[in-house]
Amino acid sequence: MITVSAPGKLMLMGEHAVVFGEPCMVTAVDQRLYVTAQKTDDGKITVDAPQSKETKFVDATVAKFFATKGITIKDRGVSLSIRSDFTSQVGFGSSSAVSVATLKALSLVFDVSISDREIFDSAYQVTIDIQGVGSGFDIAAATFGGTLFFKKGGEETIPLSNEIPLVVGYTGVKADTPTLVKMVAAKREKYPEKVDKIFAAIGKLVLQGKEALFVKDWEKLGKLMNFDQEYLRDLGVSSEKLEALISAAKEAGAWGAKLSGAGGGDCMIALVPEQKRQTVEQAIESVNGKVMHVHTHAQGVTVEP
Ligand code: PMV
Repeated sequence: MITVSAPGKLMLMGEHAVVFGEPCMVTAVDQRLYVTAQKTDDGKITVDAPQSKETKFVDATVAKFFATKGITIKDRGVSLSIRSDFTSQVGFGSSSAVSVATLKALSLVFDVSISDREIFDSAYQVTIDIQGVGSGFDIAAATFGGTLFFKKGGEETIPLSNEIPLVVGYTGVKADTPTLVKMVAAKREKYPEKVDKIFAAIGKLVLQGKEALFVKDWEKLGKLMNFDQEYLRDLGVSSEKLEALISAAKEAGAWGAKLSGAGGGDCMIALVPEQKRQTVEQAIESVNGKVMHVHTHAQGVTVEP
C-alpha cells in the first residue's frame, strides 16, 4: 500500500491568455490531495472517493496508465482511495491533482518507472480528453510544485526563498472553467483583433510580473496584478462577487488583487503587506468572502511517508 499526494494551485497571473499561447505564473499550494493505492488479485479496479460526486478523472487516468504502460487486464487489480484537504468547489485544481497523484501511485504499485514529464503528459491528455480545453498550468503545478512560469509546451521554476504574501478569498461560487474558456474563445472568434491585443498585453504583464517576483518587488507585482484584473474584466470573466472581494482587499491596503483561475467565481488573490494581512482578511470577510489559509510554492507530487 502506498500513498502519494499532489498539491493544489493558485494562478498568479496570465489566466485565459495562457490557453492561447501566452505565459502565466502559477504557485502550488499546501492544500494537498492524497491517493492511496493497493494492488489486488481480483482483477478489479475500485475507487473510493467519498469527497467527490464523480470519479471520471480517476477512471480516465487509470485507463491511460494501463494503456501507456502496456499492463494487461489480468494484472490490473487495484484499489484506490482518495482524500483531499480541499473540495473541488474552491478551484484549487482537484482534477489535475487527482490525475497526477494517481499516475505516480500506480507507477509505484505496479513497479513501472514514470518520469515527472510523463506524468504531466498523461495527465494533460486526460484533461483534454475530458474537458476539450486547458493549458495544463494546473497539471504542471501538481506535478512539479513550487512557483512556475508556465507556457504551453514548457515551464520554468521561479526560485523563491520566501512565501508570496498572498491573502486568498473564496467567493462561495463554483467556477465552470471549460464554459468560461469556451466563452473567451467565442469572443476571440468574434473580435479577433481586440481579444488578441488583450492576450498579448496580459502576456507582457506576466513577463514583468516574473521580474517583479524574482526581486520580490511586491508593490510592483501588485500593480501588475491590478492591470491583469482589468483585462480579465474586459474579457468578461470577472463577477460581482469577485469584484466585491477584490475592491475590499484593495481598499484595506492590498498592493494588488485579482481573480485567480477561470473567473466567474472560485477564489481571488490579494498581495498584501504583512502588517495589513489581518485588515485585508477582515475586509474580505465583511463582504462575505471566505479567507482560505494557504502557503505558496508547495512541493509537487510526492510519496507520503
Ligand atoms: O479555473 P481554473 O482554476 O482551473 O483556471 C483556469 C485557467 C485558464 O487559463 C482560464 C484555463 C487554463 O487551462 O489555463
